[in-house]
Amino acid sequence: MDTNQKVTLITGANRGMGFQIAQELGHAGQHVLLGTRSIEEGKFAVNKLKDSGIEAEYILLDVTHQTTIASAAKYIETHYGYLSILINNAGIALDNFENPSQLSTDIMRKDFDVNFFGVVDVTQAMLPLLSQSPQAKIINISSTMGSLSAATTVGSEVYNASAVGYQASKAALNMLTIRLAKELQTWEDSNITVNAVCPGMVATEFGGATPELAKSMGGKPVEEGVIRTVELAQSEDNSINMTFSNKEGNIAW
Ligand SMILES: NC(=O)c1ccc[n+]([C@@H]2O[C@H](COP(=O)([O-])OP(=O)(O)OC[C@H]3O[C@@H](n4cnc5c(N)ncnc54)[C@H](OP(=O)(O)O)[C@@H]3O)[C@@H](O)[C@H]2O)c1
Repeated sequence: MDTNQKVTLITGANRGMGFQIAQELGHAGQHVLLGTRSIEEGKFAVNKLKDSGIEAEYILLDVTHQTTIASAAKYIETHYGYLSILINNAGIALDNFENPSQLSTDIMRKDFDVNFFGVVDVTQAMLPLLSQSPQAKIINISSTMGSLSAATTVGSEVYNASAVGYQASKAALNMLTIRLAKELQTWEDSNITVNAVCPGMVATEFGGATPELAKSMGGKPVEEGVIRTVELAQSEDNSINMTFSNKEGNIAW
């Protein structure tokens, strides 16, 4: 087991920013495992990477399905014995500008199932593998939409946002980031950092948009959206911990 080879698992990596992260980290020499919830999408994404000279693998992984999470962890354990980086990227936003007084708890639960509980389940399953790495990183793709500071700051881009299911799930993800970072600091013989990143508004199919529509609303190219995540994933020492940041620097929780 040569733990010098970085093995990186990215959830929701068949498209959007997950795929872009896989491409950039693959080019940088990391062995990327693309978590995808369909075999066809996984094969397609891996073949696209192959065309650009990257040998990657896909792993069937629906973050809301315990069986796929357990078999993904088993696969990594059997084939590598460790994991260097976990990027919890898979996310959804099912809100549609409803007021909190009206948004159904069904929708909120679905947002939470992927954006929060999915991250908890995947992370808990991968922690034994991450702790086999001399230094490991967990990067949670969050959003300023989940920042309580931004939501209460008059004039901020989030002040008037209305997506309470999505926002609350990312606020919960931020708290998980903080709590887990603190807990892992107390683990003996392990060096695992946990950070949250906001990609900014990016032109993907997120929330049912098309990249063109998202672009017309100010969405930035995916290359810009992944800058901070790729930077963190490549940082050599593991000194950055318990931060919430974007490509400009740290942001308020
Ligand atoms: N785009 C933005 O403006 C923006 C802004 C701030 C934060 N973010 C965050 O950035 C992350 C990536 O977003 P994106 O813009 O790249 O979105 P995207 O293009 O919609 O991609 C989302 C990815 O998540 C996957 N996914 C959804 N549910 C899943 C599940 N249950 N299990 C596993 N994978 C699942 C999707 O897979 P399928 O193809 O199978 O659906 C897809 O690969 C998300 O966490 C999002 O909250 C995005």
